[in-house]
Amino acid sequence: MSTFKGKVAIVTGAASGLGLTISLKLLAEGCFVALFDLNKNALHTWFGSEANAQIMPLDITKSKSVNASVETVFQTFGRIDILVNCAGITGITNIKSHEVNDENLRKVFEINFMGSFYTSKAVIPYMLKENYGRILHIASIAGKEGNAGMLAYSASKAAVIGMTKVQGKEYAETGITVNAMAPAVIRTALVEAMPEAQVKYMADKIPMKRCGTLEEAANLAAYIVSDENSFTTGFTFDLTGGRATY
Ligand SMILES: NC(=O)c1ccc[n+]([C@@H]2O[C@H](COP(=O)([O-])OP(=O)(O)OC[C@H]3O[C@@H](n4cnc5c(N)ncnc54)[C@H](O)[C@@H]3O)[C@@H](O)[C@H]2O)c1
Repeated sequence: MSTFKGKVAIVTGAASGLGLTISLKLLAEGCFVALFDLNKNALHTWFGSEANAQIMPLDITKSKSVNASVETVFQTFGRIDILVNCAGITGITNIKSHEVNDENLRKVFEINFMGSFYTSKAVIPYMLKENYGRILHIASIAGKEGNAGMLAYSASKAAVIGMTKVQGKEYAETGITVNAMAPAVIRTALVEAMPEAQVKYMADKIPMKRCGTLEEAANLAAYIVSDENSFTTGFTFDLTGGRATY
């Protein structure tokens, strides 16, 4: 029997790319999934006919909306077992640090870091009630290594990795684990919107000489948020075709 049968998950960024693929996998495994994303139309297109999906259009940078939506998920399902934070943006890339626009950097941090902070802060009290939880923040190899040309993105993802380490330790004596994943390049809307020179810079660094696939990301994510992943917390799992060996 699937470890996900009857479990309740929240996935942010569920309307596209990694969040979409992870949500479809969790649904296929018998999970109830609450789908958080700005893109209401895409949520309806992908999940409109899914009985176990709860479509919840919202902006994860608005802490009040996040808190209200998490509360709705709890009222609807009676528990929250899993949170996967996929919503993210790159901001402006292929620029040097002295060219970074302050407002753009703030926006990247608001979505990539603050959004993941707000959602995890909101779900942890419900997970503590059950002494069980699986939180996965999608970070990036950019946060581990720093991609030249991507200051805002790399620094925001390094902050997510830092938060993962702290949260992993803080809840280590409960049944809650908090981990991150650091993918290299996976061809999604996020990557298609980047300058080709920046994408080439990232793809050229992958020893396997190919991009990752959405299926590979969803398989690793599913393991990280499964019951089986019970002795690893505060860790950033690698998904880079050999780029990072730590
Ligand atoms: N694709 C890659 O190569 C890659 C590599 C490393 C890390 N990542 C990370 O994986 C995550 C998913 O990336 P993706 O490639 O699937 O991107 P994507 O652009 O395909 O999907 C991102 C989703 O997040 C949603 N979103 C953005 N801002 C939001 C907000 N404020 N509130 C709610 N939803 C919001 C978008 O509407 C979109 O549906 C991101 O955090 C990204 O940084 C991606």
